Amino acid sequence: MDCELKAANDACDLDLGCEGFKSEIRNSRSTISPLFLLSTINYHLSTYRMSALTELPESFRPDRPEVMISPNTAPKVELAPGVELMSLVGAANGARNLYTGVASFQPGHVLPYHQHSCTENITVLEGELIVEVEGRAHHLHALDNITIPAKVSHTTSCPPEAAPTRVHVAFAMASPDRLLVEPPIRVSLSSDSEGLIGPEHVVRFKTAKPYVNGPNTEFYDYLNAKMIPGCDLSGGYATFQHGGRLPAHVHDFDESICIVQGKATCNVEGRLYSMSGGATALQPRGRVHYFINETHETMAMIWVYAGPMPVRTEIDERFTQPGVNPWGE
Ligand SMILES: [Fe+2]
Repeated sequence: MDCELKAANDACDLDLGCEGFKSEIRNSRSTISPLFLLSTINYHLSTYRMSALTELPESFRPDRPEVMISPNTAPKVELAPGVELMSLVGAANGARNLYTGVASFQPGHVLPYHQHSCTENITVLEGELIVEVEGRAHHLHALDNITIPAKVSHTTSCPPEAAPTRVHVAFAMASPDRLLVEPPIRVSLSSDSEGLIGPEHVVRFKTAKPYVNGPNTEFYDYLNAKMIPGCDLSGGYATFQHGGRLPAHVHDFDESICIVQGKATCNVEGRLYSMSGGATALQPRGRVHYFINETHETMAMIWVYAGPMPVRTEIDERFTQPGVNPWGE
């Protein structure tokens, strides 16, 4: 352990090309294990030195500020009796090609058959949800996910005997439409169906394969163009343990991050936000940002990008130092 600690300390004296990261390591020595420090340093060595841009690409210059949305003040509408939708990211706060929200279903209540003119993605946050797509009924549980392509008829409901259900919804439009349609003939599927016989795509959380995207993180993909050819959204679920984070980065599209468990610190160009309890961030295209778990409890998020693949362009950490004003605004 002493050797590992010495190695971690020595590594702080390497030129990582990143003052912010070095201070992050120095500040965390007293609370993070040497093994974690080493894995973090290895991760940063393999990402910052090889890929982080030291200058901001002018083509990414943002034209909108970030928006932090609180579930306490987010607007809510009744979609149908017993079905309420809380809007998070969307046209109302300047989002482009992206809408996210949280829908609540009382037991036994139904959102009747309808279509959208864009992709819809649904993640169960708590409870159970029946999603019937062109007559194929999928029974979803917590953290299961379904993607429904544009113009495919579907209905959603909470089983009568179940507890109230909450789901995170995402659409590939800032102002999604909803066209009510006639219900088709119902077909029952097995409880472990993954939706292979229709255009919908189901991810069952219990069989999803996580991957590491940064130190102390686990990511699960729900949708992207590699999983679903032609899909114009990407996203998934991620957990961050203490110190977990991604490098500072930008995207070529808007992003919605909803904190569904624990507490996150969101850094946008040096502006710090504490987020929990369903708080959601709209990161507009081009804003340099990262999320970190600075607590000792698990933090979890639903992330959705208004782009077909989860592409992140890593940027030097100095652009997330307080007061840096990277775009000279
Ligand atoms: Fe991001």
